[in-house]
This record gives sequence, C-alpha cells and structure tokens, in this order.
Amino acid sequence: TNSLPVYSQEEVIKHCSVEKGVWVTYKGGVYDITDFVAIHPGGDKILLAAGKALEPFWALYAVHGQEHILEILSEYKIGIL
Ligand code: HEM
Repeated sequence: TNSLPVYSQEEVIKHCSVEKGVWVTYKGGVYDITDFVAIHPGGDKILLAAGKALEPFWALYAVHGQEHILEILSEYKIGIL
C-alpha cells in the first residue's frame, strides 16, 4: 500500500543477521524476512542476501521465478526504498 514507510539503503544494510533482523530489497520494496529464514526450503543460503537486494541471487537460483514465491515475499513487506 502507499502508507508503507520509506527506508534508506543504509537502514536496510544494518539488518544483515538473524540477531539484527534480516531485511532484503526486491524491485523497490523492503522486506523483513527474519521469520522466514528458518523455514526457507533452500536453508541458510538465504542469509547471503541479508541486508542486500534479492535480484542477483534469484538470477542465479532461478527456482525463485515462480508466482507463489512472490506471494510468499509479499507477506513480509515492511516498506519501500
Ligand atoms: C528454494 C523462497 C531467498 C536459495 C526456495 C523455495 C522457496 C524459496 C519457496 C522452494 C522452491 C521450490 O522448490 O519450488 C525464497 C524466498 C526468498 C529466498 C521467499 C527471499 C525472501 C533465497 C536466496 C538464496 C536462495 C537469497 C541464495 C542466496 C535457494 C536455493 C533453493 C531455494 C538454493 C533450492 C533448494 C532446493 O530445492 O534444493 N526458496 N528464497 N533463496 N532457495 Fe530460496
């Protein structure tokens, strides 16, 4: 929605561990995926993207190019870049 807060790249980068919270960005959206890390079917690899953009990782792991994965991601949206 339009009411989500705007976050800076600097703020996103701070959230790079389970302890600090795991945030990622995707197409201009900011996502707090901390609670998803433990249930990710691809395991701890997801932490490689902590504090960063998902795009380069999802380009490598093309399994993520499916509608239902974007639906999962959308549940964790907290703001926009
Ligand atoms: C698999 C979601 C980030 C690596 C999967 C699957 C889902 C998923 C649902 C199962 C796909 C299927 O079998 O149909 C997500 C979400 C992410 C995320 C919602 C971000 C919020 C990442 C990142 C990486 C990654 C950043 C790598 C750096 C993998 C790998 C698999 C996988 C390697 C395959 C596991 C296997 O089947 O052997 N992910 N993923 N994922 N993910 Fe992710």
